[in-house]
Amino acid sequence: MSAYMSGFANEFATEALDGTLPVGRNSPQRVAHGLYAEQISGTAFTAPRHRNRRSWMYRIRPAAMHGSFSHLGEPRLHNQWLDQPSPDQMRWSPLPDADEGVDFLDGLFTMAGNGGPAAGTGIGIHLYAATQSMQDRYFYNADAEMLIVPQQGRLRLATELGVIEVEPQEIAVIPRGIRFRVDLLDGRASGYVCENFGALLQLPDLGPIGSNGLANPRDFLTPVAAYEDTEGDFELVVKFQGALWRADIGHSPLDVVAWHGNYAPYKYDLRRFNTIGSISYDHPDPSIFLVLHSPSDSAGVSNLDFVIFPPRWLVAQDTFRPPWFHRNVASEFMGLVHGAYDAKADGFVPGGSSLHNCMIGHGPDAATFDKASSADLSQPDVITDTMAFMFESRSVILPTRQAVEAGFRQRDYQACWAGLQKHFPGA
Ligand SMILES: [Fe+2]
Repeated sequence: MSAYMSGFANEFATEALDGTLPVGRNSPQRVAHGLYAEQISGTAFTAPRHRNRRSWMYRIRPAAMHGSFSHLGEPRLHNQWLDQPSPDQMRWSPLPDADEGVDFLDGLFTMAGNGGPAAGTGIGIHLYAATQSMQDRYFYNADAEMLIVPQQGRLRLATELGVIEVEPQEIAVIPRGIRFRVDLLDGRASGYVCENFGALLQLPDLGPIGSNGLANPRDFLTPVAAYEDTEGDFELVVKFQGALWRADIGHSPLDVVAWHGNYAPYKYDLRRFNTIGSISYDHPDPSIFLVLHSPSDSAGVSNLDFVIFPPRWLVAQDTFRPPWFHRNVASEFMGLVHGAYDAKADGFVPGGSSLHNCMIGHGPDAATFDKASSADLSQPDVITDTMAFMFESRSVILPTRQAVEAGFRQRDYQACWAGLQKHFPGA
């Protein structure tokens, strides 16, 4: 069982051993129980107070203690996007099942992204499929915070700052630099990961919605302190500037006995999202479904918007109720965690993905258009069995070569609009 503290980026304080947290100072001359004090900063020291994120850890050994790093193979996880991708709409079936003996780290497969760790802006989008827990190895991402969206199988994320258990329809965020290990609780697991190279994910302002709604802060859960005091021949893997490196480490780096601060992993149950929509007419812009976002340096423009399409009532009158046809300046990568998505009759299945880049036309397929155009609007519709999501970015989302050439890419995706009939000049 894991235990959590409620709130989004609160000033948390937690100790697994009584009397560990120093009182009135962060780095006393001697820390209780013979521990080391260490700070991790997730924002610049001088970031404004309401954006400043750091935590103090009280740990058995400092993070500096490990061997030197050497390059780790040719992973499927990287940040090498295509320079000149096709503007086509693209769609993929789920990542094929992993072979036996593949852990979360080896199971990651990079689909697309923009910017990168050197630029300090942009996102990386990955799928994962794994069949075993990480054994005697630990990972941290020096490039990005990681938004994990499980699609199948529960994960146990053992982190420096505590243990998070997360299941499909929940998400977890591991901050940049935090070391962790992924255990599989159901033997197999698959899902999506978004790296965020830009400003840390935050809750959106609510404007006229008021002081409640969308994702409520108290539903975000951060783990209490938990530590491992183990020694052995372990491996520490880091993603640094788009490449993976490994070093020997003689102890578990998950050895933080107590910590305080506001830079910590968290999870959120997407089923708790307070969905807001039209109760009169028209389908609003999808920004009403925004869970978390990474702002850019342009007001109102996001490096990353994490948007969900959860169960909801559709009641709008004299309205085409599904998402309409559209072209956007933003670029959209979609995934489906559960059930069916209301703008596509088939082809977009749980575990699948789609990419609609800047200004490419898209929208409901022909079957969905026909059904919604003749639906009985005197009755509300309720969508009960769905959880789709979108990673949306201000910049074009560039697919990787391995994604474009993948056997699980649906090369006939455009055919879903081919059946749309010319009705002009209709009655
Ligand atoms: Fe779209």
